[in-house]
Amino acid sequence: MKNIPKSRLRKLRTWKPGDKAFQLISSGKNNESISLIDLASNDYLGLSQDPRLIEAAHKTMLSEGVGSGGSRLVTGSRPIHDRLEKELGQWLGVERVLLFPSGFQANLAAVCALANRKTLVITDKLIHHSLLVGIKASGAKIKRYAHNNINDLERLLQNSVLEEPNQTPLVITESLFSMEGTSPDIKKIARLCENYQARLLVDEAHALGVLGSQGRGLCHGTSKGITMISGTFGKAFGSGGAFLATNNTFGEHVLQTSGAFRYTTALAPPLASATLEALRLLKSNPQKGQRLQEESMIWRSEFAKQGWNCPRAIGPIISLKLGSDEQALKKQYELEEHGLLTIAIRPPTVPEGTSRLRLIVRSNLPKNTLQKLLFHLGEKQ
Ligand SMILES: Cc1ncc(COP(=O)(O)O)c(C=O)c1O
Repeated sequence: MKNIPKSRLRKLRTWKPGDKAFQLISSGKNNESISLIDLASNDYLGLSQDPRLIEAAHKTMLSEGVGSGGSRLVTGSRPIHDRLEKELGQWLGVERVLLFPSGFQANLAAVCALANRKTLVITDKLIHHSLLVGIKASGAKIKRYAHNNINDLERLLQNSVLEEPNQTPLVITESLFSMEGTSPDIKKIARLCENYQARLLVDEAHALGVLGSQGRGLCHGTSKGITMISGTFGKAFGSGGAFLATNNTFGEHVLQTSGAFRYTTALAPPLASATLEALRLLKSNPQKGQRLQEESMIWRSEFAKQGWNCPRAIGPIISLKLGSDEQALKKQYELEEHGLLTIAIRPPTVPEGTSRLRLIVRSNLPKNTLQKLLFHLGEKQ
């Protein structure tokens, strides 16, 4: 605690979600009550408030109770887990899906299944903290390539072949980077991994439901070269829990050996049920993600007109860099005064000197949100 500067101390604030806006009901010592349009959560498609998901969770809760009461290999496995794993596997076109209570755990399990202390893990410089924790737990060595830079990745793969010809390196990337909003060329990375006989783990946490054909993520349609995909239901699926998708061999390996899979209470059945409902909604409305992408592109071009230089990207995460913590916090508070909730993202979540507002375009925002935001955001100084 001693070394954390004041501008980096985080405060817990409590929110009550409504249909179109969040109500801030407590913030530190103050008991405020302000209504704010949510431009910060990952509920990209607004499904967390969808009555069909709520009903599905409710029905399952009435018949099965709230929690699963055990781990998957003891008494926690339920028919709803089997159904979700099967339908998700079919939708993604993979052999095996295994559910986890959270994406953090799924990532930990994935890295530990694909790497050990002899492995060289080659990662994008900006991968999620959970993946770094997984690398540390596996004992593997790590080298990082410049963000989304395929040439730099290839350079590291070439070196690894020369230095350790008998080892299988593991490459890790996200398909939609959570704090940047950018995406790599997954097909090219998969091809490289195939050529260099490296394994590839892709975290699709933010892309699922939104990017790729019918919202099936950016790995969909690229079967060769991708070893494992991780995803979470806490974002576009509007629910909670997570999964790993892979082939039968690696799936069985995770089931038999992963502590993060075995030694944890199985995903709560009502959440699994809400997730299955979300999946069915996505299947019956395959253009949902595409429409959100189109809206996001309109937002980006309007920001650019006001001098805001957003990274080139296609998804609903728009990163407006301000530089210092103070500048980012000042903008956050100014927008809050006008009823707009964005969060200043600061180091260590993002690199030094890149504090930013991370804006999320959601499909159920109130009309004229963009106009209101542009007006209060002003021109980039
Ligand atoms: C890229 C990425 N991977 C994994 C996770 C973890 O997912 P979960 O929230 O389900 O633990 C997150 C969430 O913060 C994320 O942004």
